[in-house]
Amino acid sequence: MRAKMGSFAAFSLLVLGLVFNIAVLCNGGKTSSYVRKMEKTVDMPLNSDVFGAPEGYNAPQQVHITQGDHEGKAVIVSWVTPDEPGSNTVIYWKENTEYKKKAEGKVYTYKFYNYNSGYIHHCTIKSLEFDTKYYYEVGAGHTMRKFWFVTPPAVGPDVPYTFGVIGDLGQSYDSNMTLTHYELNPQKGQSVLFVGDLSYADNYPNHDNVRWDTWGRFTERSAAYQPWIWAAGNHEMDFAPEIGEIKPFKPFTHRYHVPYRASNSTAPLWYSIKRASAYIIVLSSYSAYGKYTPQYTWLEQELPKVNRTETPWLIVLVHSPWYNSYNYHFMEGESMRVMFEQWFVQYKVDVVFSGHVHAYERSERVSNIAYNIVNGLCVPVKDQSAPVYIIIGDGGNIEGLATSMIDPQPAYSAYREASFGHATFSIKNRTHAYYSWHRNQDGYAVEADSMWFFNRYWNPVNESSESQ
Ligand SMILES: [Fe+2]
Repeated sequence: MRAKMGSFAAFSLLVLGLVFNIAVLCNGGKTSSYVRKMEKTVDMPLNSDVFGAPEGYNAPQQVHITQGDHEGKAVIVSWVTPDEPGSNTVIYWKENTEYKKKAEGKVYTYKFYNYNSGYIHHCTIKSLEFDTKYYYEVGAGHTMRKFWFVTPPAVGPDVPYTFGVIGDLGQSYDSNMTLTHYELNPQKGQSVLFVGDLSYADNYPNHDNVRWDTWGRFTERSAAYQPWIWAAGNHEMDFAPEIGEIKPFKPFTHRYHVPYRASNSTAPLWYSIKRASAYIIVLSSYSAYGKYTPQYTWLEQELPKVNRTETPWLIVLVHSPWYNSYNYHFMEGESMRVMFEQWFVQYKVDVVFSGHVHAYERSERVSNIAYNIVNGLCVPVKDQSAPVYIIIGDGGNIEGLATSMIDPQPAYSAYREASFGHATFSIKNRTHAYYSWHRNQDGYAVEADSMWFFNRYWNPVNESSESQ
């Protein structure tokens, strides 16, 4: 009898589960009715003004900065000199002071098929003061160039800070619109979380690395003045055995240094930083992540280190999305989701930003971690410990928009739209952050999608009523 009661209860649960699953699978969120005028996405020609090199012999170009340590007191300054190595020195000083300091960097070059890089300089400036404006100069003599940046506030739980979020940017006319909209967004992003796929140079014959140089010159107008936090995408692999290039990530890792050693990572493709009130974990979709691999082991050790009393906001950047309802790259992130999603729920990640799909999508808070190969529980369910997954691969690259969507919209998808744009994530304090997505066709202040995020550690209540 007890066995019969048990099987009846199990059957009832199964029926309930199926009903719930059908509701979860088929009761989708909003597919935007906005219809974008469809035009072919075209790369800007080499002689475009945004690609212009600074005048003068060996003038530094492609200047960009990123965080240089784990907590924001160091900056890596990178630049390219085209004619000769020149100076490795960065001169820097605090605003309103006369005393100038110097830091020495190193210079690197690389070959890629028949391309020889310029002289790529990387210099880490250390022991900076928090929340301070610094000027810096690179180059020598008549072609020295001057820029500035503002260091983040000291790491702490209630420090307001605004991140821009951009992905899959490329160098088309649409890419230029995206960057312009980010720069003129009144939310005023203080640094950029970049979710991978930078230049799309690999779309050119022999991965013409001249297009890495043009991309560096194009993005200098932002990346020289505020740190861009880099995650690698598939277009950074530059894996091309047919032309003898078998070492992946060669141009990317030569051109874009990141502070991976500061978080005990063994490779520049996965690492973490603290910035203001956020803890940012960068993962690599295109490096091994199975059990016992370096990335797996690193993440396993990394997540317990996050102190939410110090950095309440836990943000992950990973190129290939885990929750995607477009007919592009569908389920490509699945194997990594299977490996890591349990941890993201356990450690209450607030938000995961991905790219890869050239469109925009925001998920509900869902997880799909109950499945154990025999229980059949393999659909996403609402989970208030789960992150929101955001696809922001809508930077505007040459490959064009992803327009075909899975129909009906799955329940895990809260909002989706095939338009180019960018987002901002504005942390207010330990409990609240304001997120907004901006499409390129709108005015700079217009928010096409927005949401108040409630922190999963300090304020883990359902935000769905707050979503717009
Ligand atoms: Fe991609």
